[in-house]
Amino acid sequence: MSEDLGRVPALVRERGLRLGEPLVVLAECASTNDEAKEGARAGAPHGALWIAEAQTRGRGRQGRVWSSPPGENLLFSVLVRVTCLPSRVPQLSLACGLAVRDAVASALGEAHDGDVLVKWPNDVLVERDGVLRKIAGILVESSIASGKANHVVVGIGLNVRTRAFPPELPLATSIAIERAARGLGPDVDRASVLADVLAGLDRDLELVAHRGVGPIRLRLLECDALARRPVTIEGVRGTAYGIDLEGRLLVMTERGEPMKFVAGEVHLGSGGAE
Ligand code: BTN
Repeated sequence: MSEDLGRVPALVRERGLRLGEPLVVLAECASTNDEAKEGARAGAPHGALWIAEAQTRGRGRQGRVWSSPPGENLLFSVLVRVTCLPSRVPQLSLACGLAVRDAVASALGEAHDGDVLVKWPNDVLVERDGVLRKIAGILVESSIASGKANHVVVGIGLNVRTRAFPPELPLATSIAIERAARGLGPDVDRASVLADVLAGLDRDLELVAHRGVGPIRLRLLECDALARRPVTIEGVRGTAYGIDLEGRLLVMTERGEPMKFVAGEVHLGSGGAE
């Protein structure tokens, strides 16, 4: 196990986290989400965590591929055993975006807190020089039985140490790139970023499973990357104007009709991370 990830179990214990144990660290796997789903079927407990240094078939939302150079970033999945209506799962996925946002914001320091945003439903972006760049992606997969979701697998790819991305990813960034651009000191280690994400998930997931988006909605609105921006979603063009109590994206169409979206891929109308 690499030195920095070796510190994860101690951090989980020290911080009294309920997520992060038991821990499986893999040099390589197809997808940590598949490991976690398999683990869930085999009876792994709430909080079990799978981390990989490399994935051969990393998956994103909407059938996308998630690629990351071996050993540089965080690629992990956590098993969260919460029971809720399937309609709550997209709301859980918003809470995951917030947890990752907060961890990235803390890695960049308080002075840059406002630069770290969530693009609905849960892409985490960093704004610099007016450009939005993607730093993390989240894939939440649930298991439904007898009309209830009985667990979710939260898969997170968070760019920590990559210093240069290939030309086909012009709007990708990492904590290392963003810290350097802000003149901040040496890199943060992956274990502490991971522990911050786990703490955020621990803080909010059960809350949202039981009470919905209400308790986290103000925080979501404060870091909403889409607010007042031109967007296209499901072929509809308009201006995003917030997130409602059910976690739906609110869009005022170009024809002046208000619409609400439960799910979908949003494209920013005027540049920045898609
Ligand atoms: C997206 O932005 O489309 C979501 C990307 C999610 C990637 C992570 S990496 C760890 C976990 N394993 C996967 O195969 N996918 C998620």
